[in-house]
Amino acid sequence: MRAQLQQCTEQVAQCFQNHLAFLGQTDVENALKYALGGGKHMRAYLVLETARLHAVARDIAIWPACAIEAIHAYSLVHDDLPCMDDDDLRRGQPTIHKKWDDATAVLAGDALQALSYELLCREEFSIPEKQRIELISSLARCSGIQGMVLGQAQDMSAEKSSVPLNLDQIIQLQLNKTGALIEWSAMSGAIMCAESPDALQSYAKALGLAFQIHDDVLDVEGNAEQTGKAVGKDADAGKATFVSLLGLQAALKRSQDLVDQACDALAPYGRDAENLKNLARFTISRDT
Ligand code: IPE
Ligand code: IPE
Ligand code: MG
Ligand code: MG
Ligand code: MG
Repeated sequence: MRAQLQQCTEQVAQCFQNHLAFLGQTDVENALKYALGGGKHMRAYLVLETARLHAVARDIAIWPACAIEAIHAYSLVHDDLPCMDDDDLRRGQPTIHKKWDDATAVLAGDALQALSYELLCREEFSIPEKQRIELISSLARCSGIQGMVLGQAQDMSAEKSSVPLNLDQIIQLQLNKTGALIEWSAMSGAIMCAESPDALQSYAKALGLAFQIHDDVLDVEGNAEQTGKAVGKDADAGKATFVSLLGLQAALKRSQDLVDQACDALAPYGRDAENLKNLARFTISRDT
């Protein structure tokens, strides 16, 4: 899986390099490019792989793959800000507000978000207009107030609340915060050719939860050297996670059950879905 993700990382980096070569004059331009560096590119991989399952060419699928990584990078830049998680380290490097300043981080995040939609409007991304609009509007839904932004707001308000969230509330929070962008990534292959995204959506919902549980587990069990970000911060901040509610062992069991559920959802794709199953298994075994 690592080798496949690495290949995906290189293709995404190449596409960004081709199209952002003119940037580099100002702090915010450099910060934007810096934010796109590093990362596992799991969401881009989901786009490329589900595109492959639906016979969408890779040079077409690379555009939504880059678009989702730009949105994801923006979400991380803002997530790390002092007014949110206040993190100094991301992908093994100083966070943008540390290397530059808060305003540069806010603006680089804003620019990454805009860039994402610009990429999906490119002429080279030649899919039928109806599908293009569906892809763009679903990305807006998944990343905005009904998706990632809502989840981040739920995460921040849970941190301040004196009443702990119950299991259903934590599931809702994580489906929004992390799940929504993963869902879009996985559904994009089907959306690009107007086929039903239902099986991929079920896969992605389970995968997204398993992914975030493992992120929360790494915050307890991992170390900064491997994860590339500070650990032990969720408990200090009073974050609402599966680990805080269920304890480590039950959280691990749940993430395994969710991976099994994700793999089962891929039944309609038969043996073709082996890479997506491997990605689900990787999601809860990774150390970064
Ligand atoms: C980290 O996501 C943020 C969460 C949504 C939990 P990833 O673990 O996919 O981050 P990168 O892109 O590989 O750095
Ligand atoms: C971040 O979740 C989710 C988004 C950026 C949308 P976390 O706050 O748990 O991610 P890390 O642990 O900082 O990577
Ligand atoms: Mg956060
Ligand atoms: Mg964070
Ligand atoms: Mg985390």
